[in-house]
Amino acid sequence: MANIVLVGAQWGDEGKGKVVDIYTEFADAVVRFQGGSNAGHTVVIGDKKIILHQIPSGILHPNKLCIIGNGVVLDLETLGEEINGLKSQGFFQNEAQLLISEAAHIVLPYHRSLDVGKEKKAGENKIGTTGRGIGPAYEDKISRSGIRLIDLFDEKTFKESLEKKVAEKNFLLTRYLNQEGFDASVLFEKYSALAKRFKANVVNTSVIINQLIEKKKNILFEGAQGTLLDIDHGTYPFVTSSNTVAAAACIGSGIGPTKIDRVIGVVKAYTTRVGEGPFPTELSDEIGIRLKERGKEFGATTGRPRRCGWLDIVALRHAIRVNGFTNLALTKLDVLTGLKKIKLCRAYKFKGKEISEFPSSIQILKNCEPIYEEVDGWQEELTGIKKYSDLPKNAQRYIRIIEKLLGVKFILISLGFEREETIILTSPFPAKN
Ligand code: GDP
Ligand code: IMO
Ligand code: MG
Repeated sequence: MANIVLVGAQWGDEGKGKVVDIYTEFADAVVRFQGGSNAGHTVVIGDKKIILHQIPSGILHPNKLCIIGNGVVLDLETLGEEINGLKSQGFFQNEAQLLISEAAHIVLPYHRSLDVGKEKKAGENKIGTTGRGIGPAYEDKISRSGIRLIDLFDEKTFKESLEKKVAEKNFLLTRYLNQEGFDASVLFEKYSALAKRFKANVVNTSVIINQLIEKKKNILFEGAQGTLLDIDHGTYPFVTSSNTVAAAACIGSGIGPTKIDRVIGVVKAYTTRVGEGPFPTELSDEIGIRLKERGKEFGATTGRPRRCGWLDIVALRHAIRVNGFTNLALTKLDVLTGLKKIKLCRAYKFKGKEISEFPSSIQILKNCEPIYEEVDGWQEELTGIKKYSDLPKNAQRYIRIIEKLLGVKFILISLGFEREETIILTSPFPAKN
């Protein structure tokens, strides 16, 4: 048995969905532990492309339990849409496959309006959020005034909390943010009905996960967003509102840190970022456009084009330190095919001095210039390659250089969006007898 945490090592969209789908074959359960519908995790199976937002990416394997932990902020309305979409594509035919934490906070429509209204008000200083209400929902959670899923089953408490919340939010929305207000009774009816729809799935997931651990099951904890979007360790304030690092798996699912066996970081072979904020290795030239087009770098949640740039070793070393990665999974190596030279940022230059630690100050980071190491590229398409030794020599060299600079080994290499386009060097889960 093993309990494995998998998180993004960069600014999100590293290909976590694909890797989780691959690893689910070896797992008994998959758990989402933070974030919400801001996540967009893509899995491609044959001609079907499925984008998961709140449901763990293990859901496409019919017999694997999928759990939404207490650390997620849950949007019940879009959860319903996500489930309907899965069902219509022939997945998730057994409702018992999904369990939802009764302690998860819920995202209400006023959170979405606050998110959008605040961004509009911020103008040029906006964060570039997904507009899914994630920040405002976590604000309520931390200020101890949020509404949890379990509250929806207690009519009186839910009604009273909702009335209080709507009065407060309407004040802010209509008087400060120039947005429409909400009617508490309409929200009450709608969310009470949604709660009924999911009642059978709502449980104390901490108890269930710990029982699975007792039974020596294999559990995969699926992170959303990426390390550099972490509220504490990311490029604050251009971050999301949750902890996205591996340690959050414990808090967001109700297990102790002693239960985690391995931590895997998913690393894209180059770097992307959606939304605002500093990005030292960003490319605004034709190579950046090439990465965006070959990599189909458009947001899975909002459709926004992703900013693209070279691999940033400084940022990755920071990710290794704050997550304690035991192994890495490399994705989208195929996107680099055809480049004559590939660059890796091994340090930054700030005010004439070389720095090798990722700065906490956004002002410093904004003014850092990347110091690159250049390696030869390869021209061969990687599609169809099944063995590491069949990869072009220069691709192997690129992988080895990254490993050497980071001091952590890759255990999976992804060469395309399909399940089959993957080289599994070592399974993270021990073989079952
Ligand atoms: P996530 O949020 O980390 O799950 O990543 P996204 O799903 O938002 O973005 C990753 C995108 O890259 C998706 O469209 C995947 O289908 C695709 N993808 C994943 N791995 C590979 C790969 O190795 N090569 C290519 N070309 N595409 C990949
Ligand atoms: P996955 O799980 C990439 C970014 C937004 C914005 C910032 C804050 O698919 O990797 P938020 O809506 O969370 O308040 O937005 O975080 N962001 C993501 N970027 N992938 C994601 O998720 C993201 N989720 C949020 O673009 O810059
Ligand atoms: Mg994504």
